[in-house]
Order: sequence, then structure tokens, then C-alpha cells
Amino acid sequence: MSDPKRFLLAAVMGWPVMHSRSPLMHNYWFDKLELAGAYVPLAIEPGKLGPALRALHPLGFSGCNLTIPHKEDAMAIVDEVDEVAKAIGAISCVVVRSDGSLFGTNNDWFGFINNLKQEQPGWRADAGPIAVIGAGGGSRAVCYGLMREGATEIRLVNRTRERAEAIANEVGGPIAVLPWEARHDALDGVAMAVNTTSQGMVGQAALDLRLDRLPNTALAADIIYIPLETPYLAAARARGNPTINGLGMLLHQGRPAWKMWFGIEPEVTTELHERMQRSILGH
Ligand code: ATR
Repeated sequence: MSDPKRFLLAAVMGWPVMHSRSPLMHNYWFDKLELAGAYVPLAIEPGKLGPALRALHPLGFSGCNLTIPHKEDAMAIVDEVDEVAKAIGAISCVVVRSDGSLFGTNNDWFGFINNLKQEQPGWRADAGPIAVIGAGGGSRAVCYGLMREGATEIRLVNRTRERAEAIANEVGGPIAVLPWEARHDALDGVAMAVNTTSQGMVGQAALDLRLDRLPNTALAADIIYIPLETPYLAAARARGNPTINGLGMLLHQGRPAWKMWFGIEPEVTTELHERMQRSILGH
């Protein structure tokens, strides 16, 4: 449990970092829970992650989140990497222990799965085949989470096939790698299709994916949250599919981080969701 006399501190380290919506979310929780504390964005250049992480303890930080480009590099810096971060191959959350040592884990899979559970209460990983498009860091967390929840078939497609094969090997379980050209047909009969590529993100081209094979009942998910509705999600919604965007994944991964840093698990409320949406929409 956190010490009420201590000013609670946590951060996000990235490069760039000023676009991050994490400070808004964590500072909302400090306010709501009436705790004295702050969550700050720290712009840490590539190559300076080691000294930055080592400074957390003397500065009194409980821990930090990591974003681009630090998630993989942190694996070689922290003192202990848990099994989850090892399986995903990246650290999203660092915890500073009382002796100053650094513990690295990954909460992105938890964010993805728990957002699904909150937004789609009947959702089950074993409801049918799941298509996952993309094989970067986001895909690793999504595939790990889906496997952990008992997915029975994941069809994984990526422009660069080797990266998809590496996920299938490292995450394990029933992950079938299909060629990039097969992505449209891979949607045939699925219960869910997830975009984990950067396609559709602000400033990027739309994901090149035809939805004609996607069953009308299938859940279309994206891990992108800027924009809130990618062209892929807009196309899925237009044909009547339920959709889920990436904002909730960001919100829910914050809960276990707080538990580890401050001993409290905060809630993802409608008010928090709306506040984050307003910030992303620019008002
Ligand atoms: P993240 O950690 O956010 O997932 P990443 O590791 O850079 O980011 O992964 C980006 C994903 O988007 C990858 O699956 C990438 O495909 P490649 O592995 O072939 O690079 C995918 N991606 C990026 N640009 C793409 C494009 N123009 N067409 C298809 N996929 C693309």
C-alpha cells in the first residue's frame, strides 16, 4: 500500500513522448482517488534509457511505462524480467522495488483482453477462429493475451512473414501463419479480426483489407486509438459488425501498473473514457 505521506510518482518514457495520453489517464486517477502524486512524460533519447531507468529510484519514482522505442531495449537493462514480458519480448511497465532494483513486466495483453471483457461482456477467446493482422510488438501482446484466454485458432498474417513465424514460435499454441496475400480470405468464418499494424493510424495509409469474407457477427478490433475510428473499423461498422478501438487497451493496461506501483487498482470509468476521447478529438 502507498504511504499517505509520500508524493507518488510515476512516468512514461518515450521518444517522442508528448503525444502520449497516459499522463491524462494516470493524473485523472490521482485526482479521483484524492492522492498526492503525479505522472509525467519523460522524453528519453534512444541510448539514454539505462541511466534514465536507474534514476527512478533516487528520484523517488515507483515506476514507469515504456513506449516507442524503448520497450525491447529495456529487457537488457532491468534486473528482472518476468515470464510475461519474456513471452511478449517487450517491457511495457517497470516497477522500482524498495532496494532500488528494477522489475520489468508487460501489461499490454491485459489491457487488450480486459477492454474486450468490459466492452463486450459475452466475449470469449474460444468462440471461433481469430484473425490477427500484423506481427509487431502490439501483435505479440494481442496473440499472447488471446492464447492465455484459451483461443483455439489464431490466423496470423503479416507483410513480413518471418515476424509472424517468430511470434508463432515464441508465443506457442495454435497460431497458423498465413501469407500476406491470404489476409482477405483469412477472415472467412472468424469470430474476431484484429488490426495490429500501424496502417490506419493518423498520417498512415488505411489497412488494405477487404471485408467481404468477414461474418456479420464478427467483432472487428483495432489497437490504434488515434484516430478513434480507423478506416478499417469504419468499414466494419458500415457493414454492421460490432467494433472496438484501441483506447480501452491503453486504459486497462494502466490498472495493473497502479496495483504494482501504488498497491491500488483504479477503475476504468465512463468519465475517464470520455475524457480521453475528448482529448484525442482535440477538445
Ligand atoms: P508495434 O510495436 O506498434 O506493433 P512495429 O513493431 O513497428 O510496431 O509493427 C508494425 C506492424 O505494422 C508490423 O506488422 C508491420 O509489418 P512488417 O512486419 O512487414 O513491417 C505493419 N506494417 C507497417 N507498415 C505496413 C504496410 N505499409 N503494410 C502492411 N503492414 C505494415
